[in-house]
Amino acid sequence: MELPFAESYKIKMVEPLRRSSREEREIWIKQAKYNLFNLKSDQVFIDLLTDSGTGAMSDRQWSALMLGDESYAGASSYFNMKNAIKNILGFDFFLPTHQGRAAENVLFSVLVKEGDYIPGNSHFDTTKGHIEFRKAHAVDCTVDEAAITDLILPFKGNVDPAKLEKAVAEHCDKVPFIIITVTNNTAGGQPVSMENLKQVRAIANKYNKMVIFDSARFAENAYFIKTREKGYENKSIKEIVAEMFSYADAMTMSSKKDAIVNMGGFIAMRSEDLFRKASVFNIMFEGYITYGGMSGRDMNALAVGLDEGTEFEYLETRIKQVEYLGNKLEAYGIPFQKPAGGHAIFLDANKILPNVPKEEFRAQTLGVELYVEGGIRGVEIGAILADRDPETRENRYPKLELLRLAIPRRVYTNNHMDVIAAALKNVFDRRNEITRGYKITYEAPIMRHFTVELDKA
Ligand code: F0G
Repeated sequence: MELPFAESYKIKMVEPLRRSSREEREIWIKQAKYNLFNLKSDQVFIDLLTDSGTGAMSDRQWSALMLGDESYAGASSYFNMKNAIKNILGFDFFLPTHQGRAAENVLFSVLVKEGDYIPGNSHFDTTKGHIEFRKAHAVDCTVDEAAITDLILPFKGNVDPAKLEKAVAEHCDKVPFIIITVTNNTAGGQPVSMENLKQVRAIANKYNKMVIFDSARFAENAYFIKTREKGYENKSIKEIVAEMFSYADAMTMSSKKDAIVNMGGFIAMRSEDLFRKASVFNIMFEGYITYGGMSGRDMNALAVGLDEGTEFEYLETRIKQVEYLGNKLEAYGIPFQKPAGGHAIFLDANKILPNVPKEEFRAQTLGVELYVEGGIRGVEIGAILADRDPETRENRYPKLELLRLAIPRRVYTNNHMDVIAAALKNVFDRRNEITRGYKITYEAPIMRHFTVELDKA
């Protein structure tokens, strides 16, 4: 008999979880103004709000913390991080930042000017926020197939080269760089193929543009290249990662994802000139260039995390868990973005709750239902997140209206995945009775989803 698949690690430390009743959850979610961000974590049984900073560190990472060097300048922890970035990602220059959006803020302070156009594949919301805040435009050039959730393709995170070339040619002088997000979070944790990265590089070379990778989940992307793209099956994850980044001039990183730390980020680049310019903003916004908002112990844990996060066995365990949940949902007939993403399952709320008017936020409605049903917290990636058009102030309704269930790294077991699937099935079974959603009672002028307040419509 073939032995079944099992995790490539065992558990050394545990954290208790509290179960709650449906009655308690109904009260709590009302008190939270139907915004899942407003719940206290002990009101949540299985927390799938994000995979960002929520992973479990390894014994190697915890021991690296104890060796952290907290010197203001030139700490050994800084050099540990520098070496890991050079060895794994291949960049000579880097700046630590406190998280990914801080890396965007620093780098974009150098590169983005009012009226610029920045093409890419489904810019993440903070990336778009930092572009629009500078009165520049994010041009989404993702392949159209990404919006067809039941279409199974290996690389639905890809850029459409024709759209990209059109955007670059049209706004040529006003395009400071192209940004590629690996994996493509907004389109459902979908990967970008190596072939596509090469195509982007070729277009960039033709127009003499920089390519920047938003690299939060670069290792998961490399796993998909290894398991899905011809010619890469016998290469190691680290070899694939090295090739991926050979097509980039610079990168921003939220280390809270694939570097498996609770806090941290960085910018890495090849150009010394860019490094010097970005250093000025790093010192102003983040901290001196050898710590940039991170403590020495955190830089140490990050260096180890980059190494562990690019090991095949770890990635296989991680991505197979997401796939396990996807297979259960598939068996129950629940629509989601297929194939399952690297870090999350993205439920197709337009298909699950078509009776709720789109103006009443279908994905948010599904999120509240799932919370009340099983104490499970997901996050809306739909019309609330898409925010208003900065010029017309009209609500933007994106092609995809999704509820994301992000799976933290090395945290939950497949028993938890079974609970999630069962709770979703219960919601799905009564989907026809769910006909009303929510209306906004308060919203911030930008990135409203974090603090939005809602009431039953
Ligand atoms: N880029 C991508 C692709 C991301 O997914 C995120 C964060 C960031 C940049 C910003 O990084 O949070 O460290 O400042 N994504 C989290 C999420 C918040 O839940 O997907 P950050």
